[in-house]
Amino acid sequence: MATKTLPFLLTLLFLLQFHSSVGQNAVRAGYWFPGSGFPVSSINSTLFTHLFCAFADLDPQTNRVVISSANQGQFSTFTRTVQQKNPSVKTLLSIGGGSADEAAFARMASQASSRKSFIDSSINLARSNNFHGLDLDWEYPSTTSQMTNLGLLLAEWRVAVAIESRRTGNATLLLSAAVFRSSDYYTIDYPVRSISNSLDWINVMAYDFYGPGWSNVTGPPAALYNPGKTLSGDYGITSWIQAGVAANKIVLGFPFYGWAWTLANANNNGFFAPTVGPAISNDGDIGYAQINNFIAQNGARVLYNSTFVSNYCYSGTTWIGYDDRQSISTKVTYAKNRGLLGYFAWHVGADDNWALSQQAASTWGA
Ligand SMILES: *[C@@H]1O[C@H](CO)[C@@H](O)[C@H](O)[C@H]1NC(C)=O
Ligand SMILES: *[C@@H]1O[C@H](CO)[C@@H](O)[C@H](O)[C@H]1NC(C)=O
Ligand SMILES: *[C@@H]1O[C@H](CO)[C@@H](O)[C@H](O)[C@H]1NC(C)=O
Ligand SMILES: *[C@@H]1O[C@H](CO)[C@@H](O)[C@H](O)[C@H]1NC(C)=O
Repeated sequence: MATKTLPFLLTLLFLLQFHSSVGQNAVRAGYWFPGSGFPVSSINSTLFTHLFCAFADLDPQTNRVVISSANQGQFSTFTRTVQQKNPSVKTLLSIGGGSADEAAFARMASQASSRKSFIDSSINLARSNNFHGLDLDWEYPSTTSQMTNLGLLLAEWRVAVAIESRRTGNATLLLSAAVFRSSDYYTIDYPVRSISNSLDWINVMAYDFYGPGWSNVTGPPAALYNPGKTLSGDYGITSWIQAGVAANKIVLGFPFYGWAWTLANANNNGFFAPTVGPAISNDGDIGYAQINNFIAQNGARVLYNSTFVSNYCYSGTTWIGYDDRQSISTKVTYAKNRGLLGYFAWHVGADDNWALSQQAASTWGA
């Protein structure tokens, strides 16, 4: 069934000239989420072309996309609020996220009727809340059939937004997806043909390579390079391009947060040093502005490693790996040189007085 339906949808798209190839000039983006506590009205939207509002939820009973009542107020005014400082900024409603129930996404994607519930409700929700697009953040499809069903979902989504735009005369909703760092999820390949034909772009999550929850040694959390290892942004971006996704549909992600570990030995404080667990917070997650506070308060030693393109700092047995202006600017230059569509950050509320956002925007250029 899958093998028949997908080519049919792709042919339909071609015949109706519903290509998503209008094309974006560039994507300089950031995610915002209410749990950050950062006011939407404080986002310096002049530094971004696109802002993602995260997350809408998948109702596992109805397979419809919903905005929780707690988030309704901030989400419904998100676009109007961020457009006050930058009238041309585009907004996308992001669906799912790292703590969403991935099994619910797998069930939804497995049947045509539930995919339709998801798709129709997502479009209604985007329009009724004034978003310019939708972003799927299913972390992660993890079997061959889930990947096949993701391909069907994306192809059907593209047809639906094209039809809706024709019917209403409104500009077609943008469609993007946040995806794993590489074009396969632990050897299970993403449906790259459907991704290329259906989405305006993908957000490649090139971070969380090392963190105290899954690594008992320190490491560069969002390394751009990692000699001899596959845990790097360059490895991931290259895999997506080699799998057949055009560079100009790929957006490189980087974190505005770091991971903090407690060193086993204060004197062994480089990369891949033994640790005894997280530091500073329960899981070791620490935003960029808080990292700068930590450095100032503790007189921490700050280093940049150009082999990995990662910053780190330490004081006593507390060690933090993170991205600072140097690594961000190297990554944005990398994205430009490889012909990528742009970059995104998770998340705008963690920046320190817009230092990283400004560094990224000025490195990319107007
Ligand atoms: C927002 O960013 C712009 C461009 O870098 C800058 O001129 C402005 O001062 C920033 N505003 C705030 C409130 O930081
Ligand atoms: C979409 O189209 C409807 C009906 O044509 C119109 O009333 C509405 O203002 C449009 N919305 C947007 C966001 O353009
Ligand atoms: C750290 O993790 C590695 C790989 O999972 C494991 O082989 C090693 O025993 C662990 N070391 C400690 C001290 O837990
Ligand atoms: C980066 O870190 C690695 C691993 O600790 C080290 O071998 C290398 O010399 C460092 N490179 C730079 C430029 O500091």
